[in-house]
Amino acid sequence: MHSFLTRGNALLGFTLWVMAAVTAAAFLSTVFLDYTTNVELKTSDIKIRPVVDYTTEDETVDLATLQFSISADFSKLFNWNVKQLFVYLVAEYQSKNNAINQVVLWDRIVERSERVVMNEKNLKTKYYFLDDGKNLIGHKNVTFVLRYNVIPNSGYLRLSQAQGQIEVPFPTEYSAKSR
Ligand SMILES: *[C@@H]1O[C@H](CO)[C@@H](O)[C@H](O)[C@H]1NC(C)=O
Repeated sequence: MHSFLTRGNALLGFTLWVMAAVTAAAFLSTVFLDYTTNVELKTSDIKIRPVVDYTTEDETVDLATLQFSISADFSKLFNWNVKQLFVYLVAEYQSKNNAINQVVLWDRIVERSERVVMNEKNLKTKYYFLDDGKNLIGHKNVTFVLRYNVIPNSGYLRLSQAQGQIEVPFPTEYSAKSR
């Protein structure tokens, strides 16, 4: 004869076991899937302005502004273990002091139910594209990459990037100060 308590205990143990099994299944069934996708990126209206750098007084540093378009389909990334994506646009470039500079210009959370197919034109950057010197003016190769974190229900946070990065030459002349 089982007492009430032993029954409850068995039930709880079983429930926990099922939950752990489902969690493990969610992880194992999705961990080896392909999390890459393609993106079509375009930049436009790139302008560079000299701005006063207050840390070095009368020196100026390069501030770039630009618009961009993103066309990407994230729907194949969503399986039953994907909660949302954290998508962000990175500009990468070399400068004399750094082998690689990475500047995050924009980000967005992509939820399962909404805007899984992204087709956005003339987006503006959310964050400043500021160099620590004068390395943006006339730069021959500023590379734009769309990266994303895949936020799972269980398992680890995956970092991936979309195929289709672009290499953009930057203007060789400064724009007038006024917008
Ligand atoms: C442009 O820069 C990126 C990243 O900084 C690099 O991976 C790529 O090889 C460069 N392309 C050329 C043509 O130099």
